[in-house]
Amino acid sequence: MPPLTNLPHLGKAVQDALARGAPDINTDNLPSMKDLNADNLTDLVHLIDGQCPNPRQKFLMDKLVQHLHDYVRETQLTTEEWMTAIKFLTATGQICTDLRQEFILLSDVLGVSALVDVVNHPKPKGATESTVLGPFFVEETREIKNGDTIASEGKGEYMLVKGSVKNLRGEPVPNCLIETWETDNDGFYDTQYAEYDVDCRGRLRTDDKGEYVFRAVLPVAYPIPNDGPVGKWLRSMNRHVFRPAHLHMMLQAQGYEELVTSLYFEGDVFLTSDAVFGVKGSLVKTPDVVTDEAEARKYGFKSSPFHLVTQDFVLLTEEESEQEKAKARKERGVDSVPT
Ligand SMILES: [Fe+2]
Repeated sequence: MPPLTNLPHLGKAVQDALARGAPDINTDNLPSMKDLNADNLTDLVHLIDGQCPNPRQKFLMDKLVQHLHDYVRETQLTTEEWMTAIKFLTATGQICTDLRQEFILLSDVLGVSALVDVVNHPKPKGATESTVLGPFFVEETREIKNGDTIASEGKGEYMLVKGSVKNLRGEPVPNCLIETWETDNDGFYDTQYAEYDVDCRGRLRTDDKGEYVFRAVLPVAYPIPNDGPVGKWLRSMNRHVFRPAHLHMMLQAQGYEELVTSLYFEGDVFLTSDAVFGVKGSLVKTPDVVTDEAEARKYGFKSSPFHLVTQDFVLLTEEESEQEKAKARKERGVDSVPT
């Protein structure tokens, strides 16, 4: 049997679709897919997906179909339940905007973001651990110089964040791009305000010694957006919607693995039940409270006190990162999966 374009008797609808780019295939090469049942359907989907030319994509789809089909069989999923899931995903997409990412939120509360992060960023001893990006990172930000502030006056209690960026050998990483973002004292990110203006968000670079310093405000615990489908679902699960206070930080430097992480604060009531599973013990800080007036003014604060957070980041080179991933895949017994 020739490809479909050579079968004009198939009619205008099929020919038009082929002309618009639908794959032209010889149906003789396809598995017979009649009389499907709960036992043979999965294998047939695998067979027809077997035409995928990309081995990694084929592997991902085979696993996805296998797990989804097993889920339907194991749960005996009802038609109503499946429609509820489809309506939920539809609503999740519909509420997304340039500034609101409900799908990242869904991935976060399902623990998928944390799992993808763990799988992709194994760290050896001494390297700074990563954590979830969350839904509030945006490209638009405030470029600041070392020592400047990312927060407007009145946005919260003063906080100074300083430290260094180094590699595993203790060498400084100069010119490392640092993106940071946080809530204000009311628990809101700038993007959540109707009158959106960049605040409590900034971009700076480490100096020649690999050091950085910036002023900010002490972030507070906050509810993740819960007025949409994800919030409604969390309520139905009787789960709380809170994240412990944290300062997001993302570090990028030439030749190094990008580090997406956050700093958390000792004593926060939600440290052990973060709604998005982002807390790691190594990232929990206990800020000093500096009451010295002269010290506060030296750093550019109008008055004391201020919270002092000192954090030295340790990055992996791209090569070290690949080695760690290969090692972790071997340890998990999945080093033969297509990559
Ligand atoms: Fe956050």
